[in-house]
Amino acid sequence: MTHKWWETATIYQIYPRSFQDSNGDGIGDLDGIRQRLDYLLWLSVDAIWISPIYPSPMHDFGYDVADFCRIDPIFGSLESFDRLIEEAHAKQLKVILDFVPNHTSIAHPWFEASRQSRADPKRDWYIWRDAAPDGGPPNNWISNFGGSAWTWDAGTEQYYYHAYLAEQPDLNWRNPNVQAAMHEVLRFWLRRGVDGVRVDVMWHLIKDEKFRDNPPNPAWTKNDPEIDRLLQIYSTDQPEVHDVVSGMRKVLEEFENRVLIGEIYLPVEKLVAYYGRNLKGAHLPFNFQLLNTAWTAPHIADLIETYEAALPERGWPNWVLSNHDRARIAARVGPEQARVAAMLLLTLRGTPTLYYGDELGIGHVEIAPNFVRDPWAKHEPGLGVGRDPARTPMQWGASAYAGFSKHEPWLPLTPDHEARNVAVMSDDKTSILFLVRSLLKFRREHESLSLGGWRLLSQNSDVLAYERCNGNNRIFVVLNFTANPQAWSAPISTKVRIAISTFGDRRGEPIGSTLSLRANEGLLIEAA
Ligand code: GLC
Repeated sequence: MTHKWWETATIYQIYPRSFQDSNGDGIGDLDGIRQRLDYLLWLSVDAIWISPIYPSPMHDFGYDVADFCRIDPIFGSLESFDRLIEEAHAKQLKVILDFVPNHTSIAHPWFEASRQSRADPKRDWYIWRDAAPDGGPPNNWISNFGGSAWTWDAGTEQYYYHAYLAEQPDLNWRNPNVQAAMHEVLRFWLRRGVDGVRVDVMWHLIKDEKFRDNPPNPAWTKNDPEIDRLLQIYSTDQPEVHDVVSGMRKVLEEFENRVLIGEIYLPVEKLVAYYGRNLKGAHLPFNFQLLNTAWTAPHIADLIETYEAALPERGWPNWVLSNHDRARIAARVGPEQARVAAMLLLTLRGTPTLYYGDELGIGHVEIAPNFVRDPWAKHEPGLGVGRDPARTPMQWGASAYAGFSKHEPWLPLTPDHEARNVAVMSDDKTSILFLVRSLLKFRREHESLSLGGWRLLSQNSDVLAYERCNGNNRIFVVLNFTANPQAWSAPISTKVRIAISTFGDRRGEPIGSTLSLRANEGLLIEAA
């Protein structure tokens, strides 16, 4: 059986504002990414996914797009984009773009036309509704950043819907003209050579036709973000969304070898529907379950088994540990378990997506109140929902601003950036960077990891052990989720030895019937 490139690949997410600044404005850009391609080759990832780079007023840092077919001058130009694609492809790296179809910026010409008058041909491209009888919003839907999801337009005396900021009005995907226009946007980038797209908030694209009120969420507390006050059963994940996804898939299939990835925050049983009927939906509906699962061996074992069992036949799995919207993995589980997490991510069955900077073990970065940038943090202060701590600049070396820029960066570096950077850590065989690279290289060299099956070997409250197996080739992974040493009796009859320890040592050590693991240690074991 032949495999698609995205099945054996590791994807590396780049938040472009924070990867590498090439023009000294303190914000990363496309030329910066291009200058760092050799690092990505060295690291041994196969594809990069770049968060939005389109012209934008940056209310939501590029997720509010004012022109789908240009590059914001902060990031470069179409020329710098073409050059990036060309050089990446010359180095065998794939490039995936963020496609943001659910909403535009308020500054997009489509919305400017739509709000001109109720008779404008673009009126129905967005979601306009009359006020409720009391003059209030048409229903109780809440914005993901807090407050009503409806904003009154005094000029035309109707409300428009926005699942996110008022500056991000939702497009009406029930309108065939919207579909056709957005398909053209996809073709524009596919023709330019992008290898696929990550579709922003895919599960939001279609809303209930009757705009019914969402019911309350009994589990909500005052310490939770307001969006969780209601269950989003009418505003998201509507049955018709699957037709929209398969429409996008058809566009991708006009080209060869392009991948369709969907951002979908839903429980496993609903998530897997996004593979589509006959697998004609998203190739990879992003699996975010690790972001929310308690960090213990039993919870993770249960999650893997549930996910594996829920996958449709021949649906290809994938795993994500962190991204630009969630706390970094090292912030969530601590620096020691971040290494175990890296071993988990890179030894599971299915395409891993690695978030830039996680290979350096960047943890929580404190953002002083007057440096807060994220609109969500500004709308709902005090809840800890701010996303800036996960978006701080990549740290390359010991020079000023860690080699990210010649100018003060738009978000702060970690306090320990003089030691926590690529230059220092790539020379240290015990660093997390070295570990991540060893795991990536091992994964590339062993089909049992990239393609083989997954089987739980044993699990108790502390240790999770599984095997990956392709034909006769077997790899074993044993992860200690605790801060105490553990013993594991290996149910392995053949002669085996350690290939990788998360500590960077013990390589080649033979293993008897009992294996001792240090506190927070993960081991990858191969046949001797
Ligand atoms: C997605 C993006 C997030 C953005 C939101 C609105 O969830 O990942 O960063 O704020 O969509 O576009």
